[in-house]
Formats: sequence, C-alpha cells, structure tokens
Amino acid sequence: MPVIQATDLRKEYSGRRGSVVAVDDLSLVVEGPGVHGFLGPNGSGKTTTIRCLLGLISPTEGSVKVLGADVSELHTVIDRVGALVETPKFFPNFSGRKNLRMLATVAGVDKKRVDAVLETVGLQDRSKDTFNSYSLGMKQRLAVGATLLKDPDLIMLDEPANGLDPAGIVEIRLLLRSLAEQGKTIFVSSHQLGEVQQTCDVLTIISQGRVIASGSVDEVLASAGQGRMRLAIADAPGALQVLLAAGFSARLGAAPELIEVDIDPMQGALITQHLAVTGRFVRSLQAEAASLESVFLSLTGAPGPAAPTADEPKASE
Ligand SMILES: Nc1ncnc2c1ncn2[C@@H]1O[C@H](COP(=O)(O)OP(=O)(O)OP(=O)(O)O)[C@@H](O)[C@H]1O
Ligand SMILES: [Mg+2]
Repeated sequence: MPVIQATDLRKEYSGRRGSVVAVDDLSLVVEGPGVHGFLGPNGSGKTTTIRCLLGLISPTEGSVKVLGADVSELHTVIDRVGALVETPKFFPNFSGRKNLRMLATVAGVDKKRVDAVLETVGLQDRSKDTFNSYSLGMKQRLAVGATLLKDPDLIMLDEPANGLDPAGIVEIRLLLRSLAEQGKTIFVSSHQLGEVQQTCDVLTIISQGRVIASGSVDEVLASAGQGRMRLAIADAPGALQVLLAAGFSARLGAAPELIEVDIDPMQGALITQHLAVTGRFVRSLQAEAASLESVFLSLTGAPGPAAPTADEPKASE
C-alpha cells in the first residue's frame, strides 16, 4: 500500500482577478520508507499539493489517500503523520525544550518523548537556551522536531531547508537521512536542486502544477537523456563545422581550441570518428554528466533556483 497516493489532483483558487490553477491533474505515489523529494520552481504548486494531502484545503477535483485513508478518514491516521507546512509559532523567550514540552502536552504525548526528539534533531545541548537565541538552522530543526513528537511514520515537510545557509542545509539533510534510516517516510518539497540530489531516494518534479518527471534521481537524470562532452582540438572552428554538418548539437567552448557537444558520454566515440575521417584528431575528450540542475532547468524552463523566501508570509486560502 502506498504511503501517499494522489490521483488526478486539481486545485483552482478563485479570486477577484479570475481563477488560478495551482495544481493540474497531478498524480503521485509515494512508497515508503525513505526520502521522497517533491521538487519544483517557485509557484509550481508544491505547498498547495501538500495542503491538499493533509486535508488543510480541499482539492477542486481528484482524490488523496494518506496511509490508506482518504481525506474523509484522515483523522484515523493523523497521529501517524507529522507535518511542517508553515513555520510553527514558538514562544521566543521559552527554551526549545519548554516549547516542545508545551506542544507535547497539547498533543497528548508523553513528555519523555521531548528529550528523544531533541536528541534526534541535534538540539540536546542547546535545549535549555531560549528559542530566540537559536540560529535559523536550529529553529528549523526544532520545527522538524515538533513534527516528530508523535513518532509519526510519515513526515511531510514543506521546504524545511529554505533560507538556511550551507551548514544548515547539511544539518537538515543529515536529519532527513537519519529519519529515513529509522524506517520513516519523508515527503519533502524543495526548489534547492543540489540539495535534493543528495538527500532523496526518489523524486517527483513538478512545473505549473503538473508532474514532469519522477523516479529515482538516476532515473530522472537518465530520462532527460544526454550529458555533455568537452573536447580540445586544433582549429576548433573548423572541427565545429564538421560536427555541425554531421548533425551534432555543438558550440565553441569558453577557451580557444575547446568545443562543447551535447551527447551522452557513452557515445563519445562518435565524435572522434567523425573528426578523424576529416583528418582531425582530438587532443582530449571529457565527459560532463547531466546535473539535476540542468535537467530541472530544461524540463521546467525555469530561470534557475530563486532566492530563498523563508520568511515570506504565505497567503492563506
Ligand atoms: N491562497 C491562494 N489563493 C490564490 N492563489 C494561490 C493561493 N495559494 C497559492 N496560490 C497560487 O497557486 C500557485 C501555486 O502556489 P504554491 O504556493 O502551491 O506553489 P509553491 O510551489 O509552493 O511555491 P513556492 O516555491 O514559492 O513556495 C501560485 O500561482 C500561487 O500564486
Ligand atoms: Mg511553497
């Protein structure tokens, strides 16, 4: 049984200036355990999808099942789901520990669980310090900690690394990996590509509310096809003409004598063959595998990862 299953999900927001289709016929299956990345540029519908999955908003069309329960039965599984969609409101002058203890009381969780959670998120040494003395990364780890109080099987996190510096991003990555190793399923959204590539077992990429690629990181890279090769050769402009005439997608490189060719590195011999028959010999040939970033940009047509928007207030429905 999939941990999450969304089928033909559609969400339209209507406002004074007409309607916006935020999620458009999106189908998604998340199998656990492990980290499932949900990747898309700003405004592509990640938060809207997660809110539909959690029953926080109703989809215009389509259906959702979480841990086998559909939306009307979500209350039967909600104790097995931890979620971080908006930054929780912590009391700034209370310690991290006291904040979690208060949340534990509200959730009816044994307070002993708080210490275990603080350890999991690496805050045990700072647990008695006030929340407002924490770095952004520590605040974010405390927020993830709050989702773990009920020891959930499924954890949904909307951009937990947003706005963090590289060290904070690594801490979140290690935390997600350690939760996955404990057998949890983590569904985590991001527009930070390099990060997702290192963290996730499986990926779903969306653009404009639609799924445009899914599978393991390697499968997504492979589905986008080719990588690139760089070659050094005397008379690069002449060699480039030969390659273009033979149908290669190629261009002059950044330095004299360099040419870049869009080709699967496994096919590199084709380049040398075409050049050799015209008496041109390659000095060096280097493969550059497709990066998730280049795949993402070519799939989504996005202008690149946007600047972090951690503290931007979110519109509510
Ligand atoms: N409450 C709302 N009312 C109207 N339109 C909305 C609302 N929430 C989101 N939208 C629109 O729906 C689309 C998807 O937004 P959503 O927040 O789901 O994207 P996102 O992928 O989470 O973006 P980001 O990376 O910026 O967080 C956007 O065009 C957004 O402007
Ligand atoms: Mg969002």
